[in-house]
Amino acid sequence: MIRLLLCCLYFVASLAQTPGWNLLFGTSVLNETHKYPLYFDNPVPKWIKGSLIRNGPARYEMGRRSFLNLFDGFGKLYSWQFPGNGSAFFSAKFLGSECYNESLKINDIAPYQTFDDLVPPMSFFDKELALYHGLDNMNINVYNFSGDCVVLSDTWKLYVVDCYTLDTVRPSKPGIPGVETGFPYISIMSVAHPVKEYGKNGHLTILQSLNILPDMRHKFTLVRTKSADVREKIAEWEVKKMPYLHSFSTTERYAIIFGCPFYIDIEKMLRYSLPKYSISFHKDEPTITYVIDLKTGKVVTMETENIFSMHHVNAYELDDTTLVMDVVSYPDASLTSFFEMDILMNKTRRDNVPFKPYLRRYKIDLKASKMTPVSFDKNPKFPFVNMLDVPTINEKYRSKHYCFVYGVVFKSDNKIWGNFSFVKKDVCNASGDLSWSIPGHYPMEGWFVPNPEGSSEDDGILMVPVLDGNLGKSYILLLDPKTMKPITKAISPFQVPFHFHGRFIENVF
Ligand SMILES: *[C@@H]1O[C@H](CO)[C@@H](O)[C@H](O)[C@H]1NC(C)=O
Ligand SMILES: *[C@@H]1O[C@H](CO)[C@@H](O)[C@H](O)[C@H]1NC(C)=O
Ligand SMILES: *[C@@H]1O[C@H](CO)[C@@H](O)[C@H](O)[C@H]1NC(C)=O
Ligand SMILES: *[C@@H]1O[C@H](CO)[C@@H](O)[C@H](O)[C@H]1NC(C)=O
Ligand SMILES: *[C@@H]1O[C@H](CO)[C@@H](O)[C@H](O)[C@H]1NC(C)=O
Ligand SMILES: *[C@@H]1O[C@H](CO)[C@@H](O)[C@H](O)[C@H]1NC(C)=O
Ligand SMILES: *[C@@H]1O[C@H](CO)[C@@H](O)[C@H](O)[C@H]1NC(C)=O
Ligand SMILES: [Fe+2]
Repeated sequence: MIRLLLCCLYFVASLAQTPGWNLLFGTSVLNETHKYPLYFDNPVPKWIKGSLIRNGPARYEMGRRSFLNLFDGFGKLYSWQFPGNGSAFFSAKFLGSECYNESLKINDIAPYQTFDDLVPPMSFFDKELALYHGLDNMNINVYNFSGDCVVLSDTWKLYVVDCYTLDTVRPSKPGIPGVETGFPYISIMSVAHPVKEYGKNGHLTILQSLNILPDMRHKFTLVRTKSADVREKIAEWEVKKMPYLHSFSTTERYAIIFGCPFYIDIEKMLRYSLPKYSISFHKDEPTITYVIDLKTGKVVTMETENIFSMHHVNAYELDDTTLVMDVVSYPDASLTSFFEMDILMNKTRRDNVPFKPYLRRYKIDLKASKMTPVSFDKNPKFPFVNMLDVPTINEKYRSKHYCFVYGVVFKSDNKIWGNFSFVKKDVCNASGDLSWSIPGHYPMEGWFVPNPEGSSEDDGILMVPVLDGNLGKSYILLLDPKTMKPITKAISPFQVPFHFHGRFIENVF
């Protein structure tokens, strides 16, 4: 009888081919912990000293109300801490945003802006209140802004957190000296991926100001971050249509904004209040790229193919007038709907979504104001490697000539969303492409920690959170980037569901 049952279970599991999927995506994990000791199966190199801190949704309902889109899940912070003496610890804590604290208090989802609808939906009055309160659930990324730990989403508002304890300190909405952000502008949009400024400690980011008057021009402001609260204007320019942006690139001298035709419609925003119904992809329009000279603030505009991109990989200067920029591209912006819970939790529907990221390079000729797309070679041994997203590189090579990008391929067999691989793409020579995968294991975005004694670009350690769907447990995997072979791993006390981004912050543990 038990054998029969086991056999049936096995049959069901093999049919599903994505064991533990509901732990990766559908299930809230409320557990929190502080400095839980981790045990690795092989020793951790002692030169690893700091914390891998990551952010992402982990709670999808409160009281009787639920989110309809994964993007809206309450943000949770995770930290894998390495003091550099062979020990390691794990901490996890929900972001104590105003929205989260208030939701806990009323045991319902408090009226703050979300990307998508809720079930049951908010009342008309609460929707208006949500629009007024704005987005507050910063569940996408973590940065060190000149010594301040901050967590971000695609908004100008951010939260300051304590990277040692994961406690939420306070919100911040920095002003920018010399920049007008009041009426007629709504200045709330930004990018969840600021980029480090070449040769400096600070980061560059973008403020997007939407003009609420009909047919008036919107405004981009490129700024430098000096701390969680201090900003400095670099350049400001007007645009007819405002694209949704999530990341951008920098070279030694330039910032490059890749404005795909995924435009925010301010009228619809005011009418429907939800970004889901107010941002739309225009499949007949070009991508407009803005190249900003960081020294002079001069902006050069050029057009290229109709395409969509969330994540930039890296960019650098080939010579005085030629730039190279690598992005993860998509044929359109349908990606933003793939993470609707109804799609995620229905195997037929999620396997049918056209999840087709593709690594793409653009050569930018500044003299001719022209950009040309270039495709990367495929390695026949790992033909799926170019379909990576959530890219990470050795940050020492940011804005410089580089060869290696690491990322996750979510649908390696082009059939099943769940056939995950963690890959290395050699953009200099496809014969260097490599991949790590185990059926039923779901790796997430990795981080490259360079070996302080190392000299080559791929000398270091890749840290990758993985959910083992067979065991129903999460672990942190340390991979050798040269071979993409495991070095060691340690299981967390509870699951770490799918989450977005983060980074390794040195000397914090
Ligand atoms: C996580 O939380 C659940 C629900 O409260 C609880 O049953 C479980 O024991 C917790 N796990 C750990 C490791 O604390
Ligand atoms: C390593 O350092 C941490 C933090 O300082 C400490 O808690 C831990 O006990 C140390 N481990 C060893 C093996 O000395
Ligand atoms: C939310 O509550 C937590 C826990 O009490 C607190 O640490 C945090 O600062 C609060 N958040 C805000 C924005 O006040
Ligand atoms: C954060 O960045 C600043 C430079 O901007 C650096 O001096 C500091 O050491 C960093 N802090 C941590 C904890 O890495
Ligand atoms: C999953 O989606 C398919 C295709 O849309 C539909 O036929 C099926 O009924 C759905 N399954 C469930 C359990 O809702
Ligand atoms: C790529 O690497 C392979 C193997 O190392 C080598 O044989 C080949 O010449 C390289 N190709 C280029 C274009 O450098
Ligand atoms: C992905 O699919 C391929 C082909 O069906 C299979 O050989 C491989 O084991 C799968 N890998 C994972 C990680 O599921
Ligand atoms: Fe992102």
